[in-house]
Amino acid sequence: MDDVVRIFDTTLRDGEQSPGYGMTAEQKLILARQLDELGVDVIEAGFPAASPEDLEGVRQIARAVKGATIATLARCNDGDIEACVRGLEPADKPRLHLFFGTSQLHLDAKTGLNKKDALDLIVRSVRLGKKLFPEVEFSPEDATRTEESFLLEVVQAVVDEGVDVVNIPDTVGYTVPEEYFKRIRLLKEKIRNIDNVIISTHCHNDLGLAVANSLAAVQAGARQVECTINGIGERAGNASLEEIVTTLRIRGDALPFTTNINHEKIFETSQLLSALTGVGAQPNKAIVGRNAFAHESGVHQQGWLKDRRTYEIMTPESVGAPPAQLVLGRHSGRRALAARLTELGHPMTGSQLNHVYDNFLKACEVGKALDDDELIQLALDNRPPPEPPYTINLVQASAGSVKPATATVQLTRDGRTFAACALGDGPVEAAYTAVDTITGYSCKVVEYELRAVGTGRETEGEVSVRVQIAEKTFSGRAVDTDIVAASVKAYLSAINKALALRERIKPPQVAVAEKAPQIISQ
Ligand code: KIV
Ligand code: ZN
Repeated sequence: MDDVVRIFDTTLRDGEQSPGYGMTAEQKLILARQLDELGVDVIEAGFPAASPEDLEGVRQIARAVKGATIATLARCNDGDIEACVRGLEPADKPRLHLFFGTSQLHLDAKTGLNKKDALDLIVRSVRLGKKLFPEVEFSPEDATRTEESFLLEVVQAVVDEGVDVVNIPDTVGYTVPEEYFKRIRLLKEKIRNIDNVIISTHCHNDLGLAVANSLAAVQAGARQVECTINGIGERAGNASLEEIVTTLRIRGDALPFTTNINHEKIFETSQLLSALTGVGAQPNKAIVGRNAFAHESGVHQQGWLKDRRTYEIMTPESVGAPPAQLVLGRHSGRRALAARLTELGHPMTGSQLNHVYDNFLKACEVGKALDDDELIQLALDNRPPPEPPYTINLVQASAGSVKPATATVQLTRDGRTFAACALGDGPVEAAYTAVDTITGYSCKVVEYELRAVGTGRETEGEVSVRVQIAEKTFSGRAVDTDIVAASVKAYLSAINKALALRERIKPPQVAVAEKAPQIISQ
């Protein structure tokens, strides 16, 4: 028996039929081309009888993708088989994939056929399939809950009909590795001419065992694994392609098998699926999740910095993922924080570092990790620039039920005073437009929060604002009895941080009146 495990990708059929993963024919074609580059042996492109769109999607893939075998699914009836003929007509390497529910539950609930009639129908369909297609695969659906003697009878019958692949689906993710291993072994031992066919696995993940079960089947003699990118599929999904092929690569000592997969394409394929469907892999997903190569705990970070193998069994590069990251969160040590701040242009040591580290831990208390922008802000908050680039001289706003509101703002920078007036829907918007006119920046307010501080007549307004400037975000906070003034102070504090970060920032490009206010219309 050879040691090559064929990878049958069913992302476009079993994966696509699960909630949230629907794709247009065009999107399916994009993914199919990528799967071909990834090196899968078979692409299950769809279920042509399901809808005219499915049929059209299959035809486009069959026309364009020439490396992999293109398979399509059909129930055991003439209509479904004819739809596959039409769908696969342009394919160079077509395969018909027939299925029929063989467990007593499926017979009773779905078809109402007795075993003999079911077997006759299966044999008739495989015979027809063999006349029309160079390759036929048969799946006794719910095989792991099918009575052992009936499963043997069905598999023997389809092997006698010359089927090319026999798939043993664990349709509801019910089996466990040892039991599944035994079932595949039983077929190897009891079925005549079983060595003329490829035994395939198709495991669902209802108990989280899809990958383990698939690998057990490979150990028992299966040489095709049906799986999906990111493990998507009905309910809890199918066996995950990236987990199967990477386990076979990394644990070749325990599982001496190979695949035809180009491993460096794994990450980009996973990302492409997420981009096409809008559903990303869970952060801790093995191999392709955003945290799959991230280290947060101080102990891990120190070990990893000395020798990556302490906490890494494969490199991210080997699956095409971006380099490993040290995530700075509440488990990170002072040393990792200092190293990152130095990389970001804010070196610090001693009491200053201690102070920033304390604030860093407070910021992480909510359980989140901090990104680079947040770290820079932490550093800047603790080392305020000696002179903020802009200071406020005057904020004057007028607003009421008659719109628009107006605002006049006067700011000083490098000893020069600039003033601007602007209109807006409300006084804060008008004041922000006036500030933008002076600074020359077009800032996007991504978050604005106004809170009352204190009670009664003494209540003050506390404004927290997050502003996006040239794709980076900066935050500012200020308190004032006047909420427009608090809003402008907070806004300017964010802009000053941006200016402090970019030392070579250009002076305002927009001509604004020095001292004399200028009216800027909307
Ligand atoms: O899960 C299943 O049984 C299937 C078959 C159609 C192969 O998807
Ligand atoms: Zn399935």
